[in-house]
Amino acid sequence: MTTYRIALIPGDGIGPDVTAAAWSVLEKVADKTGFTLEGEEFPWSCAFYKETGTMMPADGIETLCGFDAILLGAVGWPAEVPDSVSLHGLLLPIRKSFVQYANIRPHRLLPGVKGPLRSDGFDILCIRENTEGEYSGAGGRVHQGTADEVAVETSIFTRTGVERILRFAFEQARARRGKLASVTKSNAQKYSMVFWDEITRKLAGEYADVEVTSYHIDAMAARMVMAPESLDVVVASNLFGDILTDLGAAIQGGLGFAASANINPDRSAPSMFEPVHGSAPDIAHLGIANPIAAIWSGAMMLEHLGEKAAAGAIIAAIERTTADGIGTVPGKDRTEAITAAILAQL
Ligand code: NAD
Ligand code: IPM
Ligand code: MN
Repeated sequence: MTTYRIALIPGDGIGPDVTAAAWSVLEKVADKTGFTLEGEEFPWSCAFYKETGTMMPADGIETLCGFDAILLGAVGWPAEVPDSVSLHGLLLPIRKSFVQYANIRPHRLLPGVKGPLRSDGFDILCIRENTEGEYSGAGGRVHQGTADEVAVETSIFTRTGVERILRFAFEQARARRGKLASVTKSNAQKYSMVFWDEITRKLAGEYADVEVTSYHIDAMAARMVMAPESLDVVVASNLFGDILTDLGAAIQGGLGFAASANINPDRSAPSMFEPVHGSAPDIAHLGIANPIAAIWSGAMMLEHLGEKAAAGAIIAAIERTTADGIGTVPGKDRTEAITAAILAQL
């Protein structure tokens, strides 16, 4: 029987609740399908930081290296640890160290879910560059605390980085409805974004079967609200993709529905699966976090591991659950009730 070793990082706030929910669904589907998931949990979080002074041990990345995949809940507890410390100590180093350069985020309405804009009719796959760009971490502050203080944070766009994410997005578009929207801001940012547009045009020649259109980020934000049905695959830089995927989450009914996969396409290191949302301090401990985003992310993990039938079974169980009106309205059903309904459907 195939065994997959999964590293579990539940993290902070609602992270542990939604990760436990996802894990129970994953274990059930593994049992029914006939493969084994061997999970090992790591307590790396803001609480861990308060105890040890680091978000993960010095050999944390090395430890994770031996796993087939990573399932993460959410990281961040800003009341006690600055976000810039917690995220740069755990989530962002994993994405970068494991070259998880493609962040895949699907946005569509599940049956029975009413978005704030419409109740059906769009199916968008956002592909977010996940290792460089605005999140390069290059920069610094000088003359700190004085009137002459300067803060610099430099975006880094490399030919390798831009070309590989665009190729990945072209491939996704080719496998779907053949439409790619490339998002930049090349009217204002005349170096990096013009560079991105140039590479997009160059690759378009190789993917003649894909219809590619370049949009500015501001116009794309409006389009996702006004005409989401006109979009298929959307590719954007790290920060633009971050913002657009919270917008995508909103039009699909809320952050509790938005799943994501941080993929290392070369499979030279583990990929990581996590919901788009954060630790939601405002509802942590209330037991009302929607676990669907985390469970859907778990399905994306199985898909990546090659367990396509099991992944499909999870998505079908989620869809039957929301079609029954369970988990469709934020706060209406408890995390445990939504999870139990999905388990029952399985
Ligand atoms: P957030 O996504 O945690 O919450 C935004 C809003 O969405 C809140 O009102 C929250 O209650 C709601 N929400 C989020 N997930 C939900 C769910 N599953 N069910 C129901 N409602 C849900 O964003 P934030 O408040 O900006 O960030 C909180 C913390 O999480 C910060 O420390 C932030 O840096 C961190 N964060 C981490 C990740 C991650 O680990 N991937 C992602 C985003 C934010
Ligand atoms: C996300 C999150 C992270 C990001 C934060 C927590 C650093 O918002 O995964 O969307 O911006 O990538
Ligand atoms: Mn985000």
